[in-house]
Amino acid sequence: MNERIIELKTELKRLLKPSRYEHTISVSYMCIALAMRYDYDLHKAELAGILHDCAKYYSDEEIISKCREKGLPLSEEEIKAPAVLHAKYGAWVAEHQYGIDDPEILSAIRYHTTGKPEMSLLDKIVFTADYIEPGRDRAPGLSMIRKLAFTDLDKCVYEILKSTLEYLENKGGNVDSATYKAYDYYKQLHNQAICRGKGGNTI
Ligand SMILES: [Fe+2]
Ligand SMILES: [Fe+2]
Repeated sequence: MNERIIELKTELKRLLKPSRYEHTISVSYMCIALAMRYDYDLHKAELAGILHDCAKYYSDEEIISKCREKGLPLSEEEIKAPAVLHAKYGAWVAEHQYGIDDPEILSAIRYHTTGKPEMSLLDKIVFTADYIEPGRDRAPGLSMIRKLAFTDLDKCVYEILKSTLEYLENKGGNVDSATYKAYDYYKQLHNQAICRGKGGNTI
């Protein structure tokens, strides 16, 4: 596994912009840290983190044409808001170019931007690591969200989705409905936790 990780890092260093490569490495280490905290397989978490943005060096237009070329279905809204498509195409690249056949890793890459209802532990680890890695500094509430990542992962995912939607709605333009679906699911989970008296996490 270690040799494969080194090969993948070398390949991605060649392909990605230096800042994207640094982000990739930071996300992979955050994935390892969260896997330690939540008893997940460290190597799978590292691999998912390393590959999560493996299609990010293509432009939106290139990704749309690559998805069409490979027969990946594209919805109208994905074409209107193509920023999330690097995740869908990234899962294809990880499987077909880098030989990843683990469905948990492919799912974590596929949903790292939008999230989805009922994410697996690895889905949540990669989604969260992508948002809180140390190179991120612009999102509001980052310090609270970083602490939550290690104390209540579902609540953390809810706060990330809430903050992402607020940002995207203020910016205007199209927001992928997958993000709204994920938000609705984790908001409901959060509200249920409050009703059960578990929502009093004071951070
Ligand atoms: Fe990404
Ligand atoms: Fe990323």
